[in-house]
Amino acid sequence: IPTLTEGSDGLQLEDVALTAIATQHGTPVYVYSRRALTEAFSAYREALAGRRGLVCYAVKANSNLGVLSVFAQLGAGFDIVSGGELARVLAAGGDAGKVVFSGVGKSRDEMRQALKAGIRCFNVESEAEIDRLNEVAGELGKVAPIAFRVNPDVDPKTHPYISTGLKSNKFGVAIDAAADLYRRAAGLPNLRVSGVACHIGSQLLDPAPIAEAAGKILDLVDRLAAEGITLDHIDLGGGLGIRYRDEQPPTVAEYLAPLLKLFEGRKEELCFEPGRSLVGNAGLLLTRIEYLKPGEEKSFAIVDAAMNDLARPALYDAYHEVVAVQPRTGAAKTYEVVGPICESGDFLAHDRELAVAEGDLVALLSAGAYGMAMSSNYNTRPRVAEVMVDGDRMHLIRRRETVESLYALESPLT
Ligand code: LLP
Repeated sequence: IPTLTEGSDGLQLEDVALTAIATQHGTPVYVYSRRALTEAFSAYREALAGRRGLVCYAVKANSNLGVLSVFAQLGAGFDIVSGGELARVLAAGGDAGKVVFSGVGKSRDEMRQALKAGIRCFNVESEAEIDRLNEVAGELGKVAPIAFRVNPDVDPKTHPYISTGLKSNKFGVAIDAAADLYRRAAGLPNLRVSGVACHIGSQLLDPAPIAEAAGKILDLVDRLAAEGITLDHIDLGGGLGIRYRDEQPPTVAEYLAPLLKLFEGRKEELCFEPGRSLVGNAGLLLTRIEYLKPGEEKSFAIVDAAMNDLARPALYDAYHEVVAVQPRTGAAKTYEVVGPICESGDFLAHDRELAVAEGDLVALLSAGAYGMAMSSNYNTRPRVAEVMVDGDRMHLIRRRETVESLYALESPLT
């Protein structure tokens, strides 16, 4: 985390000691840095300076209104995948005119909601979807702007669960079928063909696959233009990876460089849908050690956060750095960092060297993306609080859930 430093009370984010956040708001707690969010967004804006471009933050990565409002104030657009995410964007002050709507399963209700809000574009993922959208738009007397999300069939070289641009994926329409679909869409009265989109995968560490995809997409765009179907924007999705451990992801400028070259002299607006690279390294999960449990084969550090709070290690075997907030002097020991949930899969980290004692705080780093957003209430664990640090101030941007709220919608039988 660029804004994590060592102060007199141990680690601090910007100018706030993590110990102070734990004292004030308890643990576990997600903590984000406004400055880190701003710097990450600015990197995209600067790389796109001098050409038509739009950065649509992928809300799914972290949908807290505090986070969304920071991006809204910076002039970001938003990539949404549900009516719920649209409601969040609007509640956070986001501009509907800069919203793109991705996803393979948009319901009629969600289409209506997005048409009424006046979003920028529907990223359509199937032939059936254009018919439904045309119908719904007609009922409302509106014209729906669309892009087809095409599947360029390139291998993003990332984890299979998060690679989305291969032929075998459920996402998008085959690039070879796209021209026919554009012809059909151009003939439908309540649709306006606006652009083309793709998203090939997440945690990409190599800029080559997206450049390859962009080349295929430009071929399509030029073929369509020759028939009189002109597209105004090209959306290359999200996907830029971040450093969790020892990965060497390209910088935003390096990732975009081959694309900008490809687009030199072209008039289409160039859009992106980054999630992880905007929020991942701007956040951490702060948790307290409940028990140290030495064992013959392994020793455990049992912390108060668990797989329900941060699912990525259990789900993808993902690596998150674990650091002691105020490391003890003396020899570090090797621990399995685990939570209190009743499953062997409830681990947050394996084999970590930590100089800690019971009651100490540790931080799981790079947890700003797909952390809180994928959390659950498994084991009737209230979801944790979220705090945004801004200079020397901390803002509580989500209160810790209460246990009663977890069953407030349920009814016992009498
Ligand atoms: N656009 C679309 C259409 C997407 O499906 C995604 C992510 C993004 C943009 C943002 O991608 P990003 O810039 O964050 O890579 N839960 C997984 C990641 C799932 C990504 C799903 N789609 C994880 O924790 O690694």
